[in-house]
Amino acid sequence: MPGLIVFGVRNAHKLNWVSTLDHEAGTRVSRNFKHADYAAAINTVLDQVRKEGRYREFADIKRQCGNYPTATRYTDGETSAVTVWCSNDYLCMGQHPDVIAAMHAAIDEAGAGSGGTRNISGTTHYHVELEAELADLHGKQSALVFTSGYISNQATLSTLAKILPGVVILSDEMNHASMIEGIRQGRGDKRIFRHNDLADLERQLGEIDPSRPKVIAFESVYSMDGDIAPIHGICDLADRFDAMTYIDEVHGVGIYGPRGGGISERDGAADRIDIIEGTLADGRIYRRYSAAG
Ligand SMILES: Cc1ncc(COP(=O)(O)O)c(C=O)c1O
Repeated sequence: MPGLIVFGVRNAHKLNWVSTLDHEAGTRVSRNFKHADYAAAINTVLDQVRKEGRYREFADIKRQCGNYPTATRYTDGETSAVTVWCSNDYLCMGQHPDVIAAMHAAIDEAGAGSGGTRNISGTTHYHVELEAELADLHGKQSALVFTSGYISNQATLSTLAKILPGVVILSDEMNHASMIEGIRQGRGDKRIFRHNDLADLERQLGEIDPSRPKVIAFESVYSMDGDIAPIHGICDLADRFDAMTYIDEVHGVGIYGPRGGGISERDGAADRIDIIEGTLADGRIYRRYSAAG
């Protein structure tokens, strides 16, 4: 039996045959892809991921209501108490009595779950009300709620790139991975400007053909360093070069501004931003959204 070699594990979807090495003849021969070969292909990739130390094993936990930030960890049939400081529920809003009461009331009134996607069974009325409130919070025309911050950045930025032919997206070098992924998926041209560097942004805007649409994508509070974007300075440049502005306020909403609208509200700049992406406070118990106006 010649040794089996599976090719193209990084592009397994492209495999439609298995190439085997005939040791005696020293040549490769092909045969039809068999059902068992799928498992072999998948296991090859998994082995590689393990070898590279990239195989993820997620902690199995259940948060304890009334005992924040403690959770019960489940390991090999045993349980232990662990402290979770890395959750997004920074302010323990997930255990606030008003929040819990509102969730109980909603379940009593409408049952559990949404019953389906918006496309199929309609938008849940609570979400319609939530979107109206979020749009109002940021002084925008409308808002759209997504399932996570990652998805809201990814979906909005990739869509923008698709509906603005010839667009150039100018992205701060410290932007979150979800913004980078959205920009990549949109397949428009991209330029990275130095972190919070207005001079570099100005230089790069000046190099772009004025006939092309431009989007400046940045965050308000940067998650790793905690520093804050010069929002008015960026908006001044956007005005001068007719660029659209997109801000990620994930770490600003609920914390800054008289109504918790984020740094853009605190700085009186919300009306200068075209699209604001955020979360419902850093006690992130609900979903993520983008608001545009
Ligand atoms: C700046 C920023 N944007 C977006 C996200 C993605 O949010 P989520 O965790 O809801 O997917 C994060 C995650 O923490 C973030 O720090």
